[in-house]
Amino acid sequence: MSFRNYTLLFIIAAFILITVGIAAAQETPIPTPLMPTSTPQPVELACDPAELTRQQTELAAQLNALKLGTADEAGVTLDTLFKVGEAYQELALSCGYIPADAASRTVGNDINRILNTLDTVYGDPINGQLLYNGDLGCAGCHEAEVPLGPPTEGTYTRTDEERLQDPALAEYTVQHYLVESIIDPAAYIVPDFNNVMVSNFGERLTLQELADLVAYLESQDS
Ligand code: HEC
Repeated sequence: MSFRNYTLLFIIAAFILITVGIAAAQETPIPTPLMPTSTPQPVELACDPAELTRQQTELAAQLNALKLGTADEAGVTLDTLFKVGEAYQELALSCGYIPADAASRTVGNDINRILNTLDTVYGDPINGQLLYNGDLGCAGCHEAEVPLGPPTEGTYTRTDEERLQDPALAEYTVQHYLVESIIDPAAYIVPDFNNVMVSNFGERLTLQELADLVAYLESQDS
């Protein structure tokens, strides 16, 4: 064969190899992750131990029955599965579970749950003061020249000697009052003030930050 023929042969061979390569690449199955087609539904959520055991058994059975699904179904199913997981986390938390990373999680809006976990962290009044005077804007309302909220100074004493005398707050401790004032300010409106305090601190504060703020306000005992 002449040099030209060799070249032609080489080109043909290369062409075949490339074509086969592309075809092979297209046929290579992309590994499909295990996609559940049915989603475990949280049954009525309750903290009662017998009910929890029943839920656990039911959930295990549902997880066992999960099958491979198509990609379309999978997105929705995985999304639901994820939310179900979150619902069970919520359940565990409201049943009194305190996760190892509780201090760094946002506290949420469940006052009882917060009060149950607050004493698991040490509240640092110095850091509380920094937070209070910082971006959260507490000082902006409580220490402005024309303050929108009651003064910071004396918060502990005022709570103890005035607020808790209100029959509406008969069962409250100072800590309970301060936590509720920060997380759910509309629950009790201080007389002569308006309901204008920011109400989303539950989504913004970690347990540690809340403990620090409460410790700072508890130090205001003049
Ligand atoms: C937009 C203004 C505003 C901001 C920001 C604000 N507050 Fe208030 N706060 C108020 C007002 C107004 C009241 C009184 C009305 C009420 O009871 O909700 C109040 C009440 C309180 C009380 C009860 C005081 C008492 O004398 O009984 C506490 C405690 C408190 N705030 C803490 C905080 C903390 C901590 C922050 C920051 C994390 C904060 N506030 C941010 C306006 C604000």
